[in-house]
Amino acid sequence: MEKIVIKGGVPLKGSVQISGAKNSALPLLFATLLADGVSEITNVPGLRDITTAVKLLSELGAQVDRQDDCCRIDAANIQGIEAPYDLVKTMRASVLVLGPLLARCGRARVSLPGGCAIGARPIDLHLKGLEALGAKITLDHGYVEATADRLLGSKISFDLPTVGGTENLLMAAALAKGETVLENAAREPEIVQLAEALNSMGAQIEGAGTAIIHIQGVDNLQPLKCRVIPDRIEAGTFMVAAAITGGDVLIQNAPRKDLEALIAKLIEAGVEIRDQEDGLRVIAPLKLQAVDIRTSVFPGFPTDMQAQFMALMTKAEGTSRISETVFENRFMHVCELQRMGADIQIDGHSAIIRGTDQLTGAPVMATDLRASASLILAGLAAENTTEISRIYHLDRGYEQIEKKLAALGARIWRDEE
Ligand code: UD1
Repeated sequence: MEKIVIKGGVPLKGSVQISGAKNSALPLLFATLLADGVSEITNVPGLRDITTAVKLLSELGAQVDRQDDCCRIDAANIQGIEAPYDLVKTMRASVLVLGPLLARCGRARVSLPGGCAIGARPIDLHLKGLEALGAKITLDHGYVEATADRLLGSKISFDLPTVGGTENLLMAAALAKGETVLENAAREPEIVQLAEALNSMGAQIEGAGTAIIHIQGVDNLQPLKCRVIPDRIEAGTFMVAAAITGGDVLIQNAPRKDLEALIAKLIEAGVEIRDQEDGLRVIAPLKLQAVDIRTSVFPGFPTDMQAQFMALMTKAEGTSRISETVFENRFMHVCELQRMGADIQIDGHSAIIRGTDQLTGAPVMATDLRASASLILAGLAAENTTEISRIYHLDRGYEQIEKKLAALGARIWRDEE
């Protein structure tokens, strides 16, 4: 197994190019199942989750040609209808094949994701929505079986705004008969990109990016041609990397409008953010100030930046409170940060962080994707050497992170355990 080794203490300088967004690329890849023909998606990041998605598409009978950042998917002959357990357990977003398969083939069989490191993460709202469109859902040996002759448009009011649920329902309703209205829909930028992509295939969707989305079902869709938007979470992670190391970094093609909540908190912490034509320049202050954050759905502070921001707050002057409201168990990075000298206490769904000048390198273990990123950030700011094991989590969602950081001056490399 591989590990990441970091010798901390170098202020990062220079510029970094942000890759395509994982959370946008995944639903787009699955949306290609809706059309009989060859779709082409560019700016697809080189990540393990994308490899898993390609594997799943291939198992369903799609021909996938992946070259550099371009994926061509020929979904003319979809024979399979099953997302097996070993793929769904590696990547929960595999459940996003449910909507497209049901709409295109009238049947889908998808393994239940089960527990996951950051909480229970059920898919009840996906299933409730599909049932409202007329699907018959049964549970059998850990699998969801869904069938429908033709989905029928309906009004669906989500109990809470779910990103994956909204995406699954958008894809299913695009080919349903009649109008579907999604209320209390998620508003994340990835939803907007998916709706725009579906519209470019011939769907009729209005209101994506707001809480109410109207979908007029159509009989068929054309293949997809699109370019994945830049990854706001990767951009945010590099912004924090600049801030925590006392650096000065230009984040090229950072999607500014998708980063407002994070930018506001960085500014409150004393970080200077300059809008430049080619991206956002992030300049660290002499001393970071403690600020409080509360994660919430977009446009609130993203839960996917919570762990990284906590690493930043370990170096700030004063005490900050970080409250997690989206997932119930997303503080696994706390124990590892404590091993590096961070002063953090858990109080229910909040973490209280007292800033310190002295993070020290230690052997630590990655527990999930964004937790891994927070350990890298802490390692960059710590004295001595940090070794991070179980980095396969990191490779799910960050494209060549150690190479990008090394190009900014960080002393970081990959090694065998
Ligand atoms: C997506 C993102 C993930 C991000 C999350 C929240 C992808 C591939 N993943 O995950 O990186 O952290 O949004 O921004 O895009 N819930 C239910 N029932 C459901 C569905 C969700 O109770 O049927 C709950 C979840 O347990 C969680 C909350 O709703 O507490 C939000 O989950 P959701 O928005 O669905 O997240 P994902 O789509 O899984």
